[in-house]
Amino acid sequence: MTAAAAAIERLVRDIPDFPKPGILFKDISPLLADHDGFRAVVDGLAAAGRGPDGTVVVDKVVGMEARGFILAAPVALALGVGFVPVRKAGKLPAATHQVSYDLEYGTASLELHRDALAPGDRVLVVDDVLATGGTARATLALVGRCGAEAVGMAVLIELAFLAGREALDGLPLTALAVS
Ligand code: PRP
Repeated sequence: MTAAAAAIERLVRDIPDFPKPGILFKDISPLLADHDGFRAVVDGLAAAGRGPDGTVVVDKVVGMEARGFILAAPVALALGVGFVPVRKAGKLPAATHQVSYDLEYGTASLELHRDALAPGDRVLVVDDVLATGGTARATLALVGRCGAEAVGMAVLIELAFLAGREALDGLPLTALAVS
């Protein structure tokens, strides 16, 4: 088992019935509060932005509000590239692209500043959990709207039973742990 997988197993706790009945919430707060664990998962996620020889192969790291920010920003610094936030609707101040996606009940929208990515930029997408894949699919659509290219996605935990991987259309996925 990798150091990152061990840290996730030890420090991510399951909270039943949050935020609503029937949902088993993955709470990463204890992991973030542990320096060695936080370091291990940031290193594990950052590896997804390197080629086989260790060379950095991405120009930007994109993270999704809110827990994706906490992970994507240090991953960007570790790779020596910039961080770009994808935010929920109405939060970004300049001109945005917007993509709506389905939730269990209703829809939500995510936004990306139009000038945050340049055409041809190679992007690593980072989030804490891949569940249904709705957030990832919308984020990948936003990256594409800028003319940039997602080259990989990296998450702490893939909830395999929700099949979110199918939303990635074959994009390489790095999951440090699978539930
Ligand atoms: C959670 C999680 C992922 C997303 C995964 O975020 O951090 O971004 O859901 O679910 P999906 O694969 O089914 O889309 P949430 O929407 O709860 O936002 P938050 O981090 O702002 O609480």
